[in-house]
Amino acid sequence: MLNRMNLRTVSALLVVVATFVAFATLPQVAPATDEKPKAQRKAVLIDDLTPGQRDLVNRFYHLFTSKTQGVMRSKWFGVLTWQHPFDLWITQEIMTEVRPDLVVEAGTFRGGSAIIWAMMLEHINPGGSVITIDINDRREERAKQMPISKRKVTFLLGSSTDPEIVAKVKARARGKKVMLILDSLHTRDHVLDELRAYWKLVPVGGYIIVQDSVIGGHPIAPGRGPGPWEAVEDFMKENNHFIIDKERERFLLTNNPNGFLKRVR
Ligand SMILES: C[S@@+](CC[C@H](N)C(=O)[O-])C[C@H]1O[C@@H](n2cnc3c(N)ncnc32)[C@H](O)[C@@H]1O
Repeated sequence: MLNRMNLRTVSALLVVVATFVAFATLPQVAPATDEKPKAQRKAVLIDDLTPGQRDLVNRFYHLFTSKTQGVMRSKWFGVLTWQHPFDLWITQEIMTEVRPDLVVEAGTFRGGSAIIWAMMLEHINPGGSVITIDINDRREERAKQMPISKRKVTFLLGSSTDPEIVAKVKARARGKKVMLILDSLHTRDHVLDELRAYWKLVPVGGYIIVQDSVIGGHPIAPGRGPGPWEAVEDFMKENNHFIIDKERERFLLTNNPNGFLKRVR
């Protein structure tokens, strides 16, 4: 009886030892210490592509914007909104990082984009608000009546570069962390005037988003003449407080090439 029990104990012990030895001698998989997680690798940007790939992106862009006019048919909660969906995602990322107190948007149109910024702010910085400026009041009734609009959005009627409007914005921006979104008149002179009028409101670490720099041949609508792209070029020559944050163009398709400006000093 005792012998049989000893045998069982010894057998059990042998199984445990054998299992331990088997696991201990398994070939070890080296931890991938030299491999960065994908999210931390440098983004692949348009300039990293071969000429053929770049051409493909540009040709698709023509289909996506000029041919289908898909963006210009877009609605946000029922309100016509001219925002590129990839850029909206990126704007959300920037807003989450920066947590602005005040978003200043030039170019209201039907009011949809201001509602988007307000909705984002609601979750990022609940005390935050939006000022949106347009030379015409073409807001949809729905955009005006949405509760979030009433709570968070202030509409200013006038030109974004009118000194009276600039003064009103500056007064409301006092002490606040501002993020600037320029989507009004897409000419070089006007956008450059906007940049000069408002850049100081943006704190170090904050952003100006210059929208629709894609027009004027970058790569669409080559006939439109100097626009936001050229305004950024001129602004960057005279102002060393900002860098062009190319990483924000990682989806390859953006309406704002060279348009994500980060204040670094
Ligand atoms: C591209 S739309 C804005 C689109 C809007 N942000 C959206 O996402 O739906 C441009 C708007 O800028 C306005 N605009 C044109 N010149 C302006 C100016 N000098 N100051 C302010 N707004 C202006 C136009 O009336 C038009 O509604």
